[in-house]
Amino acid sequence: MPAPRSLLTLVPRPTEAALRPGHFTLDADTALHIGAGAEPAAELLRTLLAPATGLSLRPSPDGRFALALDPGLGDLGEEGYRLTVDPHAVLLRAAHLTGLLRGIQTIRQLLPPQALSAAPEHGTPWLLPCADVTDVPRHTWRGAMLDVARHFQPVSYLRRYVDVLALHKINVFHLHLTDDQGWRMPVAARPKLTEIGGHRAESRTGPAGSGTYDGVPHGGAYTRAELASLVRYAAARGVTVMPEIEMPGHVRAALAAYPSLGNHPDRSLDVWTRWGVCDTVLGVHDEVLDFCRTVLEEVMDVFPSPYIHLGGEECPTTEWTHSAPARERAAAEGLSTPEALHGWFLGQIGDFLVRRGRRPVGWAETGAELPLDFTVMTWRDPSHTLTAARRGHPVINAYHRATYLDHAQSDDPNEPPAQPGTVVDLRAVHAHDPVPEDADAETAGRVLGAQTQLWTEFVTTPAHIEYLTYPRLCALADRGWSGATDWADFRARLGEHTARLDALGIRRHP
Ligand code: ACM
Repeated sequence: MPAPRSLLTLVPRPTEAALRPGHFTLDADTALHIGAGAEPAAELLRTLLAPATGLSLRPSPDGRFALALDPGLGDLGEEGYRLTVDPHAVLLRAAHLTGLLRGIQTIRQLLPPQALSAAPEHGTPWLLPCADVTDVPRHTWRGAMLDVARHFQPVSYLRRYVDVLALHKINVFHLHLTDDQGWRMPVAARPKLTEIGGHRAESRTGPAGSGTYDGVPHGGAYTRAELASLVRYAAARGVTVMPEIEMPGHVRAALAAYPSLGNHPDRSLDVWTRWGVCDTVLGVHDEVLDFCRTVLEEVMDVFPSPYIHLGGEECPTTEWTHSAPARERAAAEGLSTPEALHGWFLGQIGDFLVRRGRRPVGWAETGAELPLDFTVMTWRDPSHTLTAARRGHPVINAYHRATYLDHAQSDDPNEPPAQPGTVVDLRAVHAHDPVPEDADAETAGRVLGAQTQLWTEFVTTPAHIEYLTYPRLCALADRGWSGATDWADFRARLGEHTARLDALGIRRHP
């Protein structure tokens, strides 16, 4: 009989876990005792285990594998759970459904890695080691951002991406849907956004500043039904899809579709074929604000996420300085300079989201420039996290030197094309504490967590996405869920965990 898997292989590491002798065997006779409200968790367990194990896990009041909501476990929070495995019974309990969904990923990891295979695995006994696990995340935000604007990926791949996020108890899938180089979200009231803005003539092949292009048209857009189905798929795995619609910069694709939204209404622009910061931005006239609200109404219809990301970064204000209507707008709003239109614009749109019961999110340039009701993603400098949190913003730490997966993970010259400059190695990701060292308790309490970023200027295929994402995302998930700082312990667990990634067919970095 093979030895049961050690608890020491789990990624992320559980808060408290004790292994006991013996195991529970899942087989054709195993039935689920499903408590009231736990049905979606049972459904997920079956869905995840069926391909490899072929187990039906039928419901039965006499089932020895129990899934139950237990209000008595309220102190474990939204995502915490308790798992007890004995030779003759399994009991997974949580105060909330999301906790059960997290516990199911733990059960999945406790089984032999073959349980994660997409194809039937014959001859593997499905043993769960006897154990007691009580598990609560340290941070409420453990995210992963994927840029589908620079290079489009079909929704079938996004489902797989979500599957692997959920395995790691990542709870936010941040979908970067619009940028200078492409608009991927359909908007019924503004069909040219995807008809025109969803396609570019070609792409620059080197980094910003290089003058070579591939000559290959690139395009793609989702249907509303595809996005809605992705949201449901992710929700069934306890993952929230947070959409990002960039404004007032990073909008060249929208301006190509609707020139009247810009500062030179008669100008005709292409969907951008270069990388970097584009100096064409939205105008600040009423039509533009109405446009943004119309787009966001449709976005909110598709995405129930409490958070809606408005981008906001890298917005050159030169066009406003040279535009008479923009200067008039600034004066009418009592702003001292056209540059101040940036905060004003985001304030207008942020207020709109707040009135609709949503929370605006923006990328920080300094941590001090966004309206106070914004949740801030800090990326440029570690000090911005402290600045934003001290100002009173909820903050998500996305510091580029620790979380940008578009940077190479080693200085090996054979690494595929990446953002030049910084190497972001596995250890840097694991060492990244989202909470700044100098934060007092109140400030620290505003740091919601961390997330990885995958900008896709140089990343065109799912294989390349997975190579850049794994195993670095495992490190962020481990740190974000457990707060574990022990590098050697993480490396040891990861050594075992790679068998799971391999069973899933993830084309990871070695
Ligand atoms: C960013 O890297 N533009 C947030």
